[in-house]
Amino acid sequence: MFVSKNLSVNGKNHLVIGKNDTVELVKRFGTPLYVMDEELIRENCRVYKNAIDKYYGGNGLVLYANKAFCTVYTCKLAAEEGLGADVVSGGELYTAVKAGFPMDRIYFHGNNKTAEELEMAVENGVGHIIVDNIYELEMLNDIAKSHGVVQKIMFRIKPGIDAHTHSYIQTGQIDSKFGVALENGEAFEIYEAAHKMSNVNPDGLHCHIGSQIFDVEPFCHAAQVMMNFAGDLKDKLGLEIKNLNLGGGYGIMYTEKDDPVPYDEYIKHVSEVVKATAKKRGLDIPFILMEPGRSIVAPAGITLYTVGGVKDIKNVRKYVSVDGGMGDNPRYILYESEYAAVVANKAGNAATDKVTVAGKCCESGDLLLKDTMLAPVEVGDTLAVLATGAYNYSMASNYNRIPRPAVVAVKDGEARVVVKRESYEDLIKNDVF
Ligand code: LLP
Repeated sequence: MFVSKNLSVNGKNHLVIGKNDTVELVKRFGTPLYVMDEELIRENCRVYKNAIDKYYGGNGLVLYANKAFCTVYTCKLAAEEGLGADVVSGGELYTAVKAGFPMDRIYFHGNNKTAEELEMAVENGVGHIIVDNIYELEMLNDIAKSHGVVQKIMFRIKPGIDAHTHSYIQTGQIDSKFGVALENGEAFEIYEAAHKMSNVNPDGLHCHIGSQIFDVEPFCHAAQVMMNFAGDLKDKLGLEIKNLNLGGGYGIMYTEKDDPVPYDEYIKHVSEVVKATAKKRGLDIPFILMEPGRSIVAPAGITLYTVGGVKDIKNVRKYVSVDGGMGDNPRYILYESEYAAVVANKAGNAATDKVTVAGKCCESGDLLLKDTMLAPVEVGDTLAVLATGAYNYSMASNYNRIPRPAVVAVKDGEARVVVKRESYEDLIKNDVF
């Protein structure tokens, strides 16, 4: 009935998540409120873990992509589930350190890491650094030397693949700010350079072709291109690639229009390509890494809002205004992303009213859903926007000086705050008087 399988309706006609009545959650914690279903996050982690066991005999590691939702809470969950982690900034790394995340399972990304960030990574003993370019490579080699260590690295490769997704989240093609390209020889040259350096060990390859991808084919194609490149590195440089990181990007269901392939399926097909290409090129099967973010946390999250006004502009549009918006969910204004929503206090009622849900920011594009069908809404109702667990909290802002909502984790009828609601005091804490 709902796009996220963890939601149901109780006898009071209220929406339920993690055995918690959402109307009760609103009474306790207020709105806007991010709610994360812990069981579903864990289940999603296990889908990937089990697939590594099934298709690669356990010879691999799932890295949770923190950019989707990075908090001490999510770092701890990922660690408990035995995952590694992708971090993309000093801030994400700091969060992982504070959460006690095992540093050897950290993979540090970023297309313009600073010297301070690289220092921090080396000092903390980060497992792998995914180097983006030659400047970073030289800087890292010097930093590793000054610490007397050999840092394991991989480079981010642009395999030249056009994944069918929004152009802002496509990253595998040559015209991208990320990484080094294969087709112009840049990738080969950087491995050759690194191979000769004393304090880096280029033992892996990385690619990430984009996000919210529904086809299996581009992932298979990327795997084949990468394995062939590993073959070239072995043949021409005698360099052995032990780790193959194929990135994240698996699509999820935001609305009924989305039809994701079961994640297990992607991994099965990709594993067949990896194995076949390894055989053809006389390579060992590498240790496999993958970096899902969205598909682990997005379906587990909902955002609850209070309806403050309904503006029915006859023959034009009916606006429903809520007490959040682009500050807590900038995905509509950035990508015109579509979502599904439910009137949480009338969750079983038929969706018979066509409305546009608007936020409270001083910006006409501040919408959450455009021309969507909802049960008739009244002022004071609770609106739940579904599948908001990824790239909502992590991309939230304080535009218009609106405090960021709290995050509540639910499980088995229990609910606890894992990120506190920001206060007005928080908003001015760095202002100098
Ligand atoms: N690994 C790398 C190197 C990445 O760049 C990304 C996402 C991931 C893994 C995780 O991809 P996922 O499994 O979450 O699709 N803000 C955009 C998404 C940006 C994705 C950036 N990189 C959105 O809201 O759709």
